[in-house]
Amino acid sequence: METGKFITLEGGEGAGKTTQAARIKSALEDAGIEVVITREPGGTFGAEAIRDLVLSGSHERWSGLTELLLMYAARLDHVEKLIKPALARGVWVLCDRFSDSSMAYQGYARGLGREQVAAIDAVVMQGFKPDVTILFDIDPILAQRRVKSRGEDLSRFDTEDLAFHKVLQKAFLDIAKHNPDRFRTVDAAASRDGIETQIKHILMQRFAGLRLG
Ligand code: TYD
Repeated sequence: METGKFITLEGGEGAGKTTQAARIKSALEDAGIEVVITREPGGTFGAEAIRDLVLSGSHERWSGLTELLLMYAARLDHVEKLIKPALARGVWVLCDRFSDSSMAYQGYARGLGREQVAAIDAVVMQGFKPDVTILFDIDPILAQRRVKSRGEDLSRFDTEDLAFHKVLQKAFLDIAKHNPDRFRTVDAAASRDGIETQIKHILMQRFAGLRLG
């Protein structure tokens, strides 16, 4: 049996990844593909427990490197127990954030640097990477307005200031530039339907024979 495809969704907060994950799942299912949606940090029992540790409490609770190691501990559990087994069964995996978020948040925004994050990634992930990564690019001012208008509970990361989110946006664009074969960028300021259309085109281009209505 053919293995499934591993698709990750990346970008700053409020870019609409969660909504699009659900829409793309149903489009793929209409094309006869079995899909699982998951997220990071989290996705398995153990990784969700680490998520609670890392996303709650004060800003200074963890150092940047500790935060990175917690993210990778969660990621390894997620990859070993959920992602790889699903792909082996031919199931496609749509993951809301993955390793590129560690590079952007811990590597760039928290200042650990590209090399340190890449080194940990190499040791833990052993070269395991998504087949395609979709970057939701949006001006952080617009993104923050969207998060607030949804009246969402602001997690530790969401309360960071605008300057931090601007650094993040630049970080993701830079990471995309370093990985041109894997990354595809969508304009996340577009309408929900507009973003969905962009993603469907990307997937049909990337995966030969895939037809999405
Ligand atoms: P979440 O509420 O899922 O945010 P979003 O809806 O924007 O995806 O919270 C996840 C937070 O964790 C988000 O602020 C990004 C951060 N994060 C990291 O800092 N490093 C990582 O490796 C991952 C996966 C997430």
